[in-house]
Amino acid sequence: MAKTPFSRILYGGDYNPNQWPREVWDQDMRLFHKAGINSATINVFSWAKIQPSEESYDFSELDDIVDMLSRENYDIVLATSTGAMPAWMVKRYPEVTRVDFDGRRHKFGQRHNHCPNSLVYQKFARNLVLELAKRYASNPHIVCWHVSNEYNAGCYCETCEKAFRVWLRKKYGTLDAVNQAWNTEFWGHTFYDWDEIVAPNNLSDGMGSEWNRKTAFAGISLDYDRFISDSLLENYKLERDAIRSVDPDAVITTNLMGTYKGLDYFKWAQEMDIVSWDNYPAYNTPWSLTAMRHDLMRGLKNQPFMLMEQTPSQQNWQAYNSLKRPGQMRAQSYQTIAHGADTIQFFQLRRSRGGCEKFHGAVISHSGSEETRVFKECAQLGAELRSLGGELLGAANPAEVGILFDWDNYWALEYTSGPSIDLRYEEQLHQYYRYFYEQHIPVDMVPVDGDFSKYKAIVAPVLYMVKEGMAEALETYVKNGGTLITGFMSGIVDQSDNVHLGGYPGPLRKLCGVWAEEIDALAPEQSNILKFADGTEFRCGLLCDILHLEGAEALACYGEDFYAGTPAVTKNSFGKGTVYYVGSQPDQGGLGKILDQLAETAGVLPLMKEKTPLEIACRTVDGREYWFILNLTGTPQPAPKCFAGETDLLTGTAVGGELEPFDALLVRRAHGA
Ligand code: GLA
Ligand code: ZN
Repeated sequence: MAKTPFSRILYGGDYNPNQWPREVWDQDMRLFHKAGINSATINVFSWAKIQPSEESYDFSELDDIVDMLSRENYDIVLATSTGAMPAWMVKRYPEVTRVDFDGRRHKFGQRHNHCPNSLVYQKFARNLVLELAKRYASNPHIVCWHVSNEYNAGCYCETCEKAFRVWLRKKYGTLDAVNQAWNTEFWGHTFYDWDEIVAPNNLSDGMGSEWNRKTAFAGISLDYDRFISDSLLENYKLERDAIRSVDPDAVITTNLMGTYKGLDYFKWAQEMDIVSWDNYPAYNTPWSLTAMRHDLMRGLKNQPFMLMEQTPSQQNWQAYNSLKRPGQMRAQSYQTIAHGADTIQFFQLRRSRGGCEKFHGAVISHSGSEETRVFKECAQLGAELRSLGGELLGAANPAEVGILFDWDNYWALEYTSGPSIDLRYEEQLHQYYRYFYEQHIPVDMVPVDGDFSKYKAIVAPVLYMVKEGMAEALETYVKNGGTLITGFMSGIVDQSDNVHLGGYPGPLRKLCGVWAEEIDALAPEQSNILKFADGTEFRCGLLCDILHLEGAEALACYGEDFYAGTPAVTKNSFGKGTVYYVGSQPDQGGLGKILDQLAETAGVLPLMKEKTPLEIACRTVDGREYWFILNLTGTPQPAPKCFAGETDLLTGTAVGGELEPFDALLVRRAHGA
């Protein structure tokens, strides 16, 4: 069931008046009002300000900020500030900083740099948050608590190493079980004492860099990733519980980062009241990929989410920080709402004077003027959202297709040494997602232990890791009439990255009705051909499974190389259902042909029959449907005929004629109309 803790669409974002003299605050209040801003996220990086020393707190300035915003009836998102530690803390307790993938203990600096298992850090964070909660929780303007900020980055210090051993004991019980899980006979890694186990960074079994980690022992690294995700989650829970101990009804979140690899967000979301995330597409990020990330964030709790951050215009930290074109921010915001957001918040409201984010876009630029293009676009959106009121809040995004997403699989797939360095989890899923996006078929992103029975089709490309119970769950789903699609690099390993013996795709072999005897890897300049039974041909590449049919029928065969004529794409009947297996990476046309068949078999229907390159999405609430019609194509497009004459809620005009690039329309209908 969809639900929302808000009474209006929060419109605002990160606000740092602490960086500015008081006269600027007055200007802010006037300008925010003009921009239709009704919410502010405060205190994100103010720990050094509100706790000037180990012995003292000083909330005087924060009191003033909270008072000012309360007086003006803002919905306040109160952050806990623990994303950046004060310098005095690091000086006095150097062990609070993290040790990175290269084994270097960090000094004071930057942010997001604490050791999650440092008891000193934990004590300071908890005490601070208790103080904040006692002081502010009773303020009715505080609608949401924002714990820390964008949790990320692991730690490989000795404290974490010790905590890892404790975590392992709890998971495995005995050292024998650990040795077995990690297959430590390989390269003579057998452990005889728990203390021999070390953190897998570049000084030990890890390889690569912090942001592109590789490993000699995926079993060890996978467990370490799980351990770090859990450790940071404990940090979050520590703060959450501190707030709860004062205010049992508080709404608590932390801002996530889409397909960020480091944390198992499905596990995290269970501990969060509402999911929030920060959306920073690059100038060349496909809109379908952004849509997929939104759907993932909605899928974490299967509920509407908060857009905690986006930039009104440019970023500063990407390679090329292009401006958002006129109308682009508005269109991006409606795309976000279309996929399940109940808030639109910016980083940030006023552009900072110094520090590395001074070129980061903001509602108010360095000119301080309301006469900027960006300000005016923000004000237009603010007025539109205000006129929508709360009628859309909590609306659901019904979907008949589920794409499986799993962080364990993400880690393991990208740790593999071979068969190709070009295997990227997000990219693989996106190829499938894009088809549904273009066909106007709504998609849910679903965890591997989710409820498959809700869906007519389950899409599971590169389901490399098949953990205990997963094959059985998929078999039950298909047996009962479900349609499944999977393919190369699926069913290969168990939860510890040890191969399921007996032939690929391991536990999925019976279900798929194929045996993949070998996997060929193709370099970017190489390709093969998919020959379909009807004579059509498409290119394929990346990997080519050499398949034997074991009950399945071939839909397409390879056209070239020594495996020419052997099956490449297959279809198998299993119980009342059907399983498609795609043995290579088809080009877009080839994948489209396969997924057309899948959609037909599964009886999956697009939101509308009319062909259009516009993005179409639909949310439903209380017997009403909200149809989003977005032109993200870059060129004018005719308005879909099926909406002709209906009213666009955003402008009050009738739908018709053409949509200019970045035009966004919103049509309300009675459910089932
Ligand atoms: C992240 C952080 C913000 C800010 C923005 C800049 O999302 O949460 O504090 O640094 O990036 O894009
Ligand atoms: Zn540590």
